[in-house]
Amino acid sequence: MTANTPDAGNTLWHGRFAGGPSDELMAYTVSLPFDRLLWREDIACSRAHVKGLAHVGILSVDECDSVLAALSAVESEMSSGAFAFVPSDEDIHTAIERRVTELSGAAGAKLHTGRSRNDQSVTGFRLWCKSQIPMVARRVIALQEALLQRADESASKGAYLPGYTHVQRAQPVMLAHHLMAHCWALGRDVDRLLDALERVDVSPLGAGALAGSSLPLDPEWTARELGFTAVFDNSLDVVSDRDFAAEFLFSLSMIAVHLSRIGEEWVLWTSEEFGFATLDDAYATGSSMLPQKKNADIAELARGKAGRVIGGLTGLLATLKGLPLSYNRDLQEDKEPLFDAVEQVSLGLAAIEGMIATATFRYDSMQQAADAPTMAATDLAEFLVRSGVPFRDAHAVVGALVRRSLAGDGALVDLVASESSLGPEAARLIEAGVGVTMRTTRGGAGPGVVKDQRERLEHRLAAWRAAVQQASR
Ligand code: ARG
Repeated sequence: MTANTPDAGNTLWHGRFAGGPSDELMAYTVSLPFDRLLWREDIACSRAHVKGLAHVGILSVDECDSVLAALSAVESEMSSGAFAFVPSDEDIHTAIERRVTELSGAAGAKLHTGRSRNDQSVTGFRLWCKSQIPMVARRVIALQEALLQRADESASKGAYLPGYTHVQRAQPVMLAHHLMAHCWALGRDVDRLLDALERVDVSPLGAGALAGSSLPLDPEWTARELGFTAVFDNSLDVVSDRDFAAEFLFSLSMIAVHLSRIGEEWVLWTSEEFGFATLDDAYATGSSMLPQKKNADIAELARGKAGRVIGGLTGLLATLKGLPLSYNRDLQEDKEPLFDAVEQVSLGLAAIEGMIATATFRYDSMQQAADAPTMAATDLAEFLVRSGVPFRDAHAVVGALVRRSLAGDGALVDLVASESSLGPEAARLIEAGVGVTMRTTRGGAGPGVVKDQRERLEHRLAAWRAAVQQASR
C-alpha cells in the first residue's frame, strides 16, 4: 500500500483534497492508456467549447484565441509524437487541459468553464464513432464487391455446387447464388451501421457533469460547430447514455458473426474433403512442422475472433445494466471493447476480402459433387407432383427409390427410368447440369432468377454506396 502523497496540487480536484492520489488508485483508474486514441476528438471538442464560451461572452476574443493557439500547439505535439505525458495525466482530457494551461496560462485555466469530463469524454467518443461507422461500412461494401465480382465470374462459367442443409448435400445451386447470399447479409450490416449512426450523431456538450449550467452556454451552437445533427434534450440522460456504443458494438458483432460464417465455409471448402477452392499463397499459412500443409488461418480467425467481439458486447451491456443515473465511473469501460471491435472487424473484413478475391475455385469438384444422382430427388418428386401425385406420396416414392439404390438395387437413374410413374423423361433430371436449372422462382438458385437477383443486388449496392458516402460527409 502506498500512502497518499502530500501533494494534491496536480489533480483536477486539488482544492478539496489535502493529499494526492495513491499509486494504486492511479494504476486502477487511469484511462489514458486507451483513451489517448481520442486526442483528435478531444481537441475538436475543446475548440468548439472554447469558441462557444467566447460566443456567449464568457471568454474574451483574446482569451479564446490564446486557448485556440494552445490547442493547435497540442495538436502538433500529438501528431508528431512530441507530446510529453506526465504521470498525473489520468486520461486524455486531463492531459490536454494540463498542457493547454501550461501553454496559455490564465486563459487556459478557463477552458473547462461550464464543462465536465462527463460531457466532454462522451462527446469525443461519439465523434470518434461518427468517423468509424462510415469507415467500417465502406469495408463491408468492399467485401460485397469482391463477392459480387467472384459471383459474376462464376456465373459466366455457369458454375454450380451443392447447396447444403445440416451440412448434408441438398439441392444444386449456382455458385453466384451462394456468394450473393453473403452479400445480402452484409447489406443488412450496412443498414444497421447507418441506422446506429443516427443515435450516435447527438451532441452531449453542455450537459456538464449531469445537470447543465448556470452559465449562458449554448449547446445547440457547439453541436453545430462540431458537426452533430442533433443536440441532447436531457442532461442526465446524455452523460450516462451509452446506447449508441452498444448499438455500434452490436452492429460490429453481427458483422463478426457473418465473417465467422463465411470463414467456416472456407475452412470446409478448402479442405481436401470438399476441395471446392484453393487459397492463394498470400492468404494462406503453412505449418511449422507438417511440410504439406496449407491452412486457412484467416478463415479460422474470422470464426475465432467473433468470440471476443461478442464478448465485448456482452461486457458492455453488463456494465450498463443496473447503472443509476447519471454518470458513474463504470462508464469509462465503454471504450476498450469498441476500439477493439472496430479494429478486429476492420482487419477481418479486409483479410476475408483479399482471401476471397484471390482464391481459385475448383468448379469441377463443386459440379461433380452437385451432380450426384441423389441431388435430383426433390426434382423427381416435383415431376410426380406435376402429373397430379400428392407431394407426400411423391416424396415416399422417390425416397424408396433412393433407399433401394443405396442398398445396391441399381443406379438411381435406372430405377427411375424403370419406375412406371417416372420413366425415361424423369431420368433425364438426373443428368449432369440439369438439376441447377430447375429452380426458377424469385430468389431461387437457378441461373435465370439468379440473374434477376444480381440486378436487384446491383441496385441495392448503389443505394448502400450512396448512403455511406452521404454519411461520410
Ligand atoms: N476517463 C473518464 C471516462 O472515460 C472521464 C470522465 C471522468 N469523470 C469523472 N467524474 N471522474 O469516463
